[in-house]
Amino acid sequence: MTVTIVGSQLGDEGKGGIVDVYGDAVDVVVRYQGGDNAGHTVVSEGDEYKLSLVPSGAVRGKIGVLGNGCVVNPNTLFEELDVLSERELSPDVRVAERAHVILPYHRIIDGMEEDVKSDDNLAAGTTGRGIGPTYEDKAGRRGVRIGDLLDPETLRERLEYVVPQKRALVEDVYGIEIGEDVDGDAFDVDTLFETYLAFGERIEREEMAVNCGEFLQARLDAGDEIMFEGAQGTSIDIDHGIYPYVTSSNPTAGGAAVGTGVGPTVIGQGEVVGIVKAYLSRVGTGPLPTELGSVDGQTPENGGRQDESELATYIRDKGGEYGTVTGRPRRVGWLDMPMLRHATRANGFTGLAINHIDVLAGLDEVRVGHSYTLDGEELLSMPATTEKWDDCEAEFRTFDGWDDVDWAAVAAEDYDAVPENARTYLEYIAEELETPIYAIGVGPGREETVIVESPI
Ligand code: GDP
Ligand code: IMO
Ligand code: MG
Repeated sequence: MTVTIVGSQLGDEGKGGIVDVYGDAVDVVVRYQGGDNAGHTVVSEGDEYKLSLVPSGAVRGKIGVLGNGCVVNPNTLFEELDVLSERELSPDVRVAERAHVILPYHRIIDGMEEDVKSDDNLAAGTTGRGIGPTYEDKAGRRGVRIGDLLDPETLRERLEYVVPQKRALVEDVYGIEIGEDVDGDAFDVDTLFETYLAFGERIEREEMAVNCGEFLQARLDAGDEIMFEGAQGTSIDIDHGIYPYVTSSNPTAGGAAVGTGVGPTVIGQGEVVGIVKAYLSRVGTGPLPTELGSVDGQTPENGGRQDESELATYIRDKGGEYGTVTGRPRRVGWLDMPMLRHATRANGFTGLAINHIDVLAGLDEVRVGHSYTLDGEELLSMPATTEKWDDCEAEFRTFDGWDDVDWAAVAAEDYDAVPENARTYLEYIAEELETPIYAIGVGPGREETVIVESPI
């Protein structure tokens, strides 16, 4: 039995929290794509854990696996493992031998490309972790894999082939002086070889490397429950998202098969839970039809329905919608139903977890982008190009707001304890998506989740 947890929007929907809530009932938690661009929060008994690479199940002592679809920065991985160990956890994490390795030059090139793109408003606002350049090398068949770190001869061969190409790219295309403008060690074969061989030795010593598909199949055969933990979200999926403002992997449920070596039939026989934030927030660039504060100068005084920037600030502050690294305010928008219909189809959701219902509490009214108008026609799902999406005008529906209540007390009871107007909002979402609600997030803590049904 498997459960796949997928972000239905733009990332940061609260996937980590839901993995934690349902995670007690599983044996293994597997990441299938992305790398340390993710930031998953688990709040357990008042302790907050921010995980970027280690699967969130580590907080409950579950075996964590980084699948072949992941890109792994060994620096981040070992730092995170060391910090968790200092916090008295003993994470048992395995890494797929087929997973690709993020090298220092990937991060540097990520920054350079974003710089260049920013002149044309094409920058995705990446996390700067080298994710895109690493997936490029994977597809370009010039990547370094975890398995290569365990084999000195192969590692040297790979580096000797690829590093001169990176040097040429940086110096001849970007016109940047290696050793002067950027760290020379990041482009030095000998230094990279020594450093990454040492990582390989630690991976070997700690018996972390696995043949992912075989490892997981053996666990399934032994009767284990496996959870697949998606990172990012459907609208920043490289195929199904708002290209080019996307990440470079497939957060959608199909990625769970390709990114781990378990058959799609196995994933499909299990549950696929879509994680929904009750509104939208976005760290990166690109259009956002339901964005709050995007309507120029709209205020109640000049005929606007409400002062949108004030509303955006209310939701942003209450939901802590500020970038974890930079502290930059995130963009905020109303829930976008065409985006969720698109995600429901692309992922085949069997259930939904809708988070942050508490954040919207206290508003007079809550709005939802129900559909779009594009060229005079009504659209219920997202168009396939981002340029058309930018031209979509959201058609809103309005719901009566709900008051702030003692949310922990609500979570301790059951669904009926959720304020009536919030239930009306939730039921609208479930009906439109023809998908049942499994859980409702009413706060960041493990205990602040109303569990309607468990997928396990
Ligand atoms: P992820 O990347 O999808 O795992 O989400 P993040 O951890 O990046 O962002 C979600 C943030 O919202 C974290 O700070 C969570 O602790 C918090 N959070 C999750 N669910 C809820 C909820 O239902 N209500 C509130 N107020 N916060 C939540
Ligand atoms: P979690 O797992 C939100 C966004 C970046 C940028 C785009 C590409 O915590 O939900 P990348 O560094 O991946 O090449 O950046 O994707 N992005 C995320 N946004 N949550 C995330 O992860 C994200 N990971 C990447 O902001 O717009
Ligand atoms: Mg996050």
